[in-house]
Amino acid sequence: MNKDDRKRTTTDAGIAVASDEYSLTVGPEGPIVLHDHYLIEQMANFNRERIPERQPHAKGSGAFGHFEVTQDVSAYTRAAVFQPGTKTDTLIRFSTVAGERGSPDTWRDPRGFALKFYTSEGNYDMVGNNTPVFFLRDPMKFQHFIRSQKRRADNGLRDHDMQWDFWTLSPESAHQVTWLMGDRGIPKTYRHMNGYSSHTYMWVNKDGERFWVKYHFKTDQGIECLTQEEADKLAGEDADAHRRDLFDAIARGDYPSWTLKVQIMPFEEAEHYRFHPFDLTKVWPHEDYPLQEVGRLTLDRNPTDFHTEIEQAAFEPNNTVPGIGFSPDKMLLARVFAYADAHRARMGVNYKQIPVNAPRCPVHSYSKDGALRVQNVSDPVYAPNSKGGPAADHTYTEKWSGSGEFVHAPYTPHKDDDDFVQAGILVREVMDDAARDRLVSNAVGHLKAGVSDEILERAFDYWRKVDKDVGERIEKGVRGS
Ligand code: NDP
Ligand code: HEM
Repeated sequence: MNKDDRKRTTTDAGIAVASDEYSLTVGPEGPIVLHDHYLIEQMANFNRERIPERQPHAKGSGAFGHFEVTQDVSAYTRAAVFQPGTKTDTLIRFSTVAGERGSPDTWRDPRGFALKFYTSEGNYDMVGNNTPVFFLRDPMKFQHFIRSQKRRADNGLRDHDMQWDFWTLSPESAHQVTWLMGDRGIPKTYRHMNGYSSHTYMWVNKDGERFWVKYHFKTDQGIECLTQEEADKLAGEDADAHRRDLFDAIARGDYPSWTLKVQIMPFEEAEHYRFHPFDLTKVWPHEDYPLQEVGRLTLDRNPTDFHTEIEQAAFEPNNTVPGIGFSPDKMLLARVFAYADAHRARMGVNYKQIPVNAPRCPVHSYSKDGALRVQNVSDPVYAPNSKGGPAADHTYTEKWSGSGEFVHAPYTPHKDDDDFVQAGILVREVMDDAARDRLVSNAVGHLKAGVSDEILERAFDYWRKVDKDVGERIEKGVRGS
């Protein structure tokens, strides 16, 4: 390109600058002058380029796409996004959980599967993982759990001793830990894994009938995983392998897709279902609640600015739309608070005005002012008012009920509830011999990396409760006999 045809560099105020290369000095050898405001702007901007990384799920990658409804589920939900024939723009962010913003994509960890649907009724966020369960069922332990997965206070190292200390003192983690130590603990790419709501949500149809629902986004690319050895090698060779794979696939027109299927439980069945239906450490077996297809998610557009579109993306489980509500899952209810609070801390109170977070439907809120508000606010600025300001629609309440004393207590167990039962089913009925061998090998490798004797004893006991044979093999593998 002819130099003269190029756009001219400007300051952030759009003012032409005299040099891209030399600061303003008193003679070629002289000191830099303070009124070189372009140099100062460059340095000041650079010093403020980073925003805090997300506390968990700091390393991630994202893309845009759309969700198309292929089946009629209007009998279960009135949400516009799930009505027959509807096509909705979406944003997804995949992530690992414990690593930092630059950490390797292939560390053994659950993967985040956070979706934003820009629906005609407001943004709907389905902030799930690539696993149908979680380590915990009470949010009181979440912060402690994440700290145990991250780094020690003294040497700043990750530490398997504290991971197994926490897990073995939290037997409800057994199902998720078994899943994590199995093949699916390291997906081959973000394209080759499923996404799950994990939580139970409520759907409400146009007649006000309520249903409990779990979401399963099944990868159309097929499930593929990495062995521990493959993952370790890739972590050294290309820490961003999954980010690169996603970006490259979309860039070459090989658009990944997922088929959304749901499990639907009639509202009244929750009370007497054999497993506590809101316990996040449990699945609903498919034989009890089969999968029903809803539609297809396709990713077909890469971000053009990673920072503005992915790093500043704000997903929050509180973003539900009419026809979709929460369940009494205590973890979910805590998340309904936690995310918006995290976004305010990370990006300021007006983060929803950043284009990637802005709804694609009219907004009539009474929020006002605050740092970096860019949309004008108009009067009246209070409600109720007699000035024609927006008024709430009381039909938008989704209901369930609860009563009782204030207590700090676990869920009341249902008939088949047990911390180890579904982990055992996974090991014995879903995994084949080769998958079980890899599970044992992965767990042995993990436990051999710096776990103290006392915690090892607890870990052997934990694994024997998952499955007697697998437990004995893990103990043998670690003891080396
Ligand atoms: P099914 O036989 O109907 O389903 C087994 C499920 O396990 C399938 O969804 C399959 O996913 C998935 N799966 C296969 N291999 C692995 C693996 N190595 N790690 C994790 N998941 C795997 O049985 P149930 O519904 O009765 O569930 C039995 C066990 O399967 C559960 O205890 C749970 O651990 C696991 N599971 C159950 C899910 C559910 O929602 N019911 C979802 C995912 C796992 P796919 O079909 O995609 O290959
Ligand atoms: C990220 C809290 C459980 C999936 C986060 C963040 C917080 C948080 C504070 C960072 C948000 C940000 O800065 O953008 C919690 C709490 C939980 C919980 C308090 C339980 C009490 C879960 C569960 C899942 C999940 C059960 C999956 C089912 C995610 C995902 C992200 C995330 C996918 C990354 C979102 C993104 O890509 O921006 N969580 N979390 N979390 N969490 Fe959770």
